[in-house]
Amino acid sequence: MWATSPACTELETHVLDWLVEMLGLPRQFDSHGRGGGVIQDTASSATLCALLAARERATGWRSNAQGCDRRLVAYVSSQTHSSIEKAVRIAGLGSEQLRRLDVDESFAMRPEVLERQLAADRAAGLQPCFVCATIGTTASNAIDPLPAIGRLCAREDVWLHVDAAMSGSAALCPEFRFIHDGLEHADSYCFNPHKWMFTNFDCDCFYVADRDALIRTLSILPEYLRNRASESGRVFDYRDWHVPMGRRFRALKLWFVIRWYGVAGLQHHIREHVRLAQEFATWVEADDRFELAVPPPLNLVCFRHRGGDRANQELLEALNASGALYLTHARLHDRLTLRLCVGQTQTEARHVREAWERIQRLARPV
Ligand SMILES: Cc1ncc(COP(=O)(O)O)c(C=O)c1O
Repeated sequence: MWATSPACTELETHVLDWLVEMLGLPRQFDSHGRGGGVIQDTASSATLCALLAARERATGWRSNAQGCDRRLVAYVSSQTHSSIEKAVRIAGLGSEQLRRLDVDESFAMRPEVLERQLAADRAAGLQPCFVCATIGTTASNAIDPLPAIGRLCAREDVWLHVDAAMSGSAALCPEFRFIHDGLEHADSYCFNPHKWMFTNFDCDCFYVADRDALIRTLSILPEYLRNRASESGRVFDYRDWHVPMGRRFRALKLWFVIRWYGVAGLQHHIREHVRLAQEFATWVEADDRFELAVPPPLNLVCFRHRGGDRANQELLEALNASGALYLTHARLHDRLTLRLCVGQTQTEARHVREAWERIQRLARPV
């Protein structure tokens, strides 16, 4: 509650408003109007809260009282993070009510597929209530086309949540703000400073355009929580903005990160990470044994050895066993793909160069 730690609440609101400005987010998300931000532990929790509010809004604020309506449907792309399916299960819609839509060549959601599915579900007597678009999918960093998806959601009166857990921080640099084109249509948005903004786990920034919808969904007021500050209506009680009641003072570490680096410092590191990843991609392209799975949009390079899944699996295991670097993998176009991400606080050009040299040394001829 605000009353039990005003500083904790006020600093959080302040830092989250700073970030609206720093990332050039639409003004609907700052706390001066009807919106606002709150720190959640993870993007998974943020998505769950967004879905719960969407569920309530879609049912005229009745689903909390009466249980989940089996006609509600949620929409994601086939590349969306698994945490959204987890939220769909927890919120009671059920995995069968989640539509996983086909993607285009760049692994991004196709608005025309979404439009067709919304129409088909409505025709079948179902009720679309939630779309999650991703800015930077986990497997390949794909960017879903927000302008078209957003217009569609506005027309259809469906809650649009934007999951930018992995890549939202790129918008600290004006030249990468294109990733958020169309975000003004979103009802909610989240990104993870604990992924790519040098902040210790855990820290997810979650924004809503209409905070009353979120609070109305999550607020319960027993006698022992009543206090004068809350009743004045002039303070935020963040316990009503997420699942837990008690909360950590996560804003403090975020405030320190921003103070320590400054906006220019943060921009410098983000730019450098993108530059290093792009440089790595040119090395991959220049080696006949390798290919890029997709052109890297930002700081994640998806590449593979041309020798097939077995060659890639062996290479991945040998690299990770070395202890000198850690790559993860994904399946893209049904082929095993290696993922190199540059985003850690201490990563410098020499680390990326050494990683590539090791990859070249351990890779067999095609
Ligand atoms: C796009 C995307 N969304 C959501 C998540 C889940 O993040 P968290 O661990 O903060 O719940 C991830 C994690 O990798 C992700 O890449």
